[in-house]
Amino acid sequence: MKKRVAVIGAGPSGTAVLRAFQSAAAKGADIPEIVCFEKQDDWGGLWNYTWRTGTDEFGEPVHCSMYRYLWSNGPKECLEFADYTFEEHFGRPIASYPPRAVLWDYIKGRVEKAGVRDWVRFRTPVRHLSYDDKSGKFSITSHDLRKDKVTTETFDHVIVCAGHFSTPHVPEFPGFTSFNGRVLHAHDFRDAMEFKGKDILIVGRSYSAEDIGSQCYKYGAKSITTTYRSRPMGFKWPSNWEEKPLLQRVDNRTAYFKDGTSREIDAIILCTGYQHYFPFIEDPLRMRTENRLWPLNVYKGVVWEDNPKLHYIGMQDQFFTFNMFDAQAWYSRDVILGRIPLPSQAEMRKDSAEWRAREEKLEDAEQMIWYQGDYVKQLIGMTDYPSFDIDTVCKTFIEWEHHKAEDIMGFRNNSYRSVMTGKMSPKHHTPWLQAMDDSLESYLKSS
Ligand SMILES: Cc1cc2nc3c(=O)[nH]c(=O)nc-3n(C[C@H](O)[C@H](O)[C@H](O)COP(=O)(O)OP(=O)(O)OC[C@H]3O[C@@H](n4cnc5c(N)ncnc54)[C@H](O)[C@@H]3O)c2cc1C
Ligand SMILES: NC(=O)c1ccc[n+]([C@@H]2O[C@H](COP(=O)([O-])OP(=O)(O)OC[C@H]3O[C@@H](n4cnc5c(N)ncnc54)[C@H](OP(=O)(O)O)[C@@H]3O)[C@@H](O)[C@H]2O)c1
Repeated sequence: MKKRVAVIGAGPSGTAVLRAFQSAAAKGADIPEIVCFEKQDDWGGLWNYTWRTGTDEFGEPVHCSMYRYLWSNGPKECLEFADYTFEEHFGRPIASYPPRAVLWDYIKGRVEKAGVRDWVRFRTPVRHLSYDDKSGKFSITSHDLRKDKVTTETFDHVIVCAGHFSTPHVPEFPGFTSFNGRVLHAHDFRDAMEFKGKDILIVGRSYSAEDIGSQCYKYGAKSITTTYRSRPMGFKWPSNWEEKPLLQRVDNRTAYFKDGTSREIDAIILCTGYQHYFPFIEDPLRMRTENRLWPLNVYKGVVWEDNPKLHYIGMQDQFFTFNMFDAQAWYSRDVILGRIPLPSQAEMRKDSAEWRAREEKLEDAEQMIWYQGDYVKQLIGMTDYPSFDIDTVCKTFIEWEHHKAEDIMGFRNNSYRSVMTGKMSPKHHTPWLQAMDDSLESYLKSS
């Protein structure tokens, strides 16, 4: 009997796994049966945008954390698939910071070409994952929402690709219950137009804080105040944007900060990150970690050390994204196909501890980029995923950091060279601050 492999989630990580197995099959390998469970109605994960927040039409928590007008926050040249370039997908080179719809189209293009849609059961969340020592098999209970049918099946291997930027981390500050304005988490932010003419307060100092603040600035917020716990972001902000030390309390419409200052505000957006939240996975198999570059208990960032037939993909904090998920997916595939032998548990733990020790010494974003680059390089060296110039991708990330430091509202107007095609990307026809229409059609028109 053929082995059965379950993939949980059909976002960029899950679709990377589908493509990895399909590419092996296309080269003549005998591959297992692949069943991918996806709770949304289409693939693409977070890139599959919905206007909905809270729960969906079936009562499921909405997965999407993206918003209207979201553009890539890093150069697309850093995430490009090595086996399917932007140029192949769009028929010509395109500019470097595509809006969400353009990236979603690209993600879908590769798996549509691979012809693997039949492997996915859409609208089918996994409710329970467990392992039986006696049979050596996993048991997965899933719920076909459209038929309202719950089924339990067994699998030889499971690859968890459920994402970790969907369940919000929501701290509370004194006075929230009586604040006379809106309080929401970034997960529920959809349309910056809602905050036009408003004084907004953003809690957090990372990518969501920076980008949601920038969205609100672009679409006409009256003022933006960001409040940080550790340190300010330190960009050269527009004149109506101020960074304050941590919020202490709100009273009516006034926010009070650690330095004793205060401000009148209309709305609070908590850009306080997300949780690795997998309630459907039984205890001994469940990853628990904060958002960091080296979560523990996964050998090579993928193989669950307590049960190497279980793999996780995309669980790291991310500079590298799509092509790192590919590197992990190809590695996972080759472990499952028996092409890559695994060492003993003690050796796996030792290897992970070394990566973690190195991670703990990283001091700044540049060092983190090279670290994640080394990781991707190591994985790619082990499989037949097309190799690419990872050092140049790291340098592109560093150029991106410099462009942000120079001009936080203009960094998306830059272009970079694709290491996959060797071609320089064209400049976009409209500067980001003036580009209000983020549709695929508008982005792709040539002038
Ligand atoms: C606001 C925001 C903006 C971002 N912008 C960028 C960007 O500009 N560039 C970039 O490279 N990256 C960006 N990212 C990072 C993002 O994490 C990756 O691009 C990518 O989407 C991660 O892919 P994934 O497949 O691991 O997870 P996800 O995209 O989250 O996909 C996981 C999939 O698993 C499914 N799923 C979850 N649980 C279950 C279950 N129990 N049963 C069945 N299916 C399940 C979900 O429905 C979903 O389709 C952004 C993230 C956020 C939150
Ligand atoms: N395409 C885009 O434009 C875009 C937009 C948004 C997000 N993203 C992506 O989304 C992912 C998640 O980013 P994220 O910014 O949501 O999460 P994140 O990077 O995990 O950052 C979480 C932030 O929350 C802060 N925080 C947590 N608890 C807090 C508390 N109690 N009080 C004050 N601050 C608190 C942290 O502060 P400290 O740093 O001080 O600990 C940190 O700044 C990233 O991969 C990012 O690239 C992309």
